[in-house]
Amino acid sequence: MSASTLPRIPQTPSEVKAFFAAHRTARHYHPYAMPAEDLDAILYAAQHAPTDATAQLYSFVRLTDPQVREKAAELTANAHLASASETFVVCLDIHRIALLLQHGGEQAGQYPHIAVHFGIGDAALAGQNMLVAAEMLGYQGCWVGGVVNNLPELIELLQLPVGVLPYAALTIGRSAETDVPQRPRLPRQMVIHDNVYRDPTADELQAAFATMNPIAKRPDSDLPGDWLRFLRAYFGAGKAMENREPHLQAALEQQGLLK
Ligand SMILES: Cc1cc2nc3c(=O)[nH]c(=O)nc-3n(C[C@H](O)[C@H](O)[C@H](O)COP(=O)(O)O)c2cc1C
Repeated sequence: MSASTLPRIPQTPSEVKAFFAAHRTARHYHPYAMPAEDLDAILYAAQHAPTDATAQLYSFVRLTDPQVREKAAELTANAHLASASETFVVCLDIHRIALLLQHGGEQAGQYPHIAVHFGIGDAALAGQNMLVAAEMLGYQGCWVGGVVNNLPELIELLQLPVGVLPYAALTIGRSAETDVPQRPRLPRQMVIHDNVYRDPTADELQAAFATMNPIAKRPDSDLPGDWLRFLRAYFGAGKAMENREPHLQAALEQQGLLK
């Protein structure tokens, strides 16, 4: 279903499902300058996300300078940071709270772990509010965790003070991708637990691969997707996530977010 055929304000359960069924992460965009009114609406949506303790522990850095965009695209290995209509780096931010306390004659506490917990939550909620609002307006977008690839360089590029850490980038534009199938999700009973946590059975684990394999299909290959290969590359021993670990730890320390 294309965005233009969607009901503007989903009201019934099936309309709500149709809206979310139309979600696609998009990484290629038509050149398009987002009208000021649309930009205002998605920023409004971001700022009206719920927030822990009224604090709004996040900042978005909007990238408008082509050179900064190019550099950020290179550092995150996601070219669409340069080509999207709008590109943001979504950060957790406890620096502003410290300034506000200081302004009021108060001293900020030391709460680096709490900051990470609630700051990342606030940042993700605000960013996802923005993406959903953009999708309501017919845009598509992409979250970019690739910010963790080169955190020190990105922190320097954006001149982020101590207390501010990139969580992810978010690009938004008019998608130039066509006929992208909906990407699968795990069977619901593996993700939604009734009252107490329940480990999946071996059959359910097997079924999960059958469901998720298409998400790992390479567009340039006729081979079926292999989600296990994908999971291994990211989460396997000695692979991407493990390799990112010391870099994130160093950045957390640099930004005052590690005890
Ligand atoms: C926190 C986060 C980080 C992500 N990082 C990247 C990324 O660095 N590069 C990318 O191309 N997609 C990235 N994605 C997009 C996911 O790959 C995408 O959401 C997933 O494959 C499901 O596809 P769908 O959103 O179209 O349903 C990220 C998504 C999230 C939520």
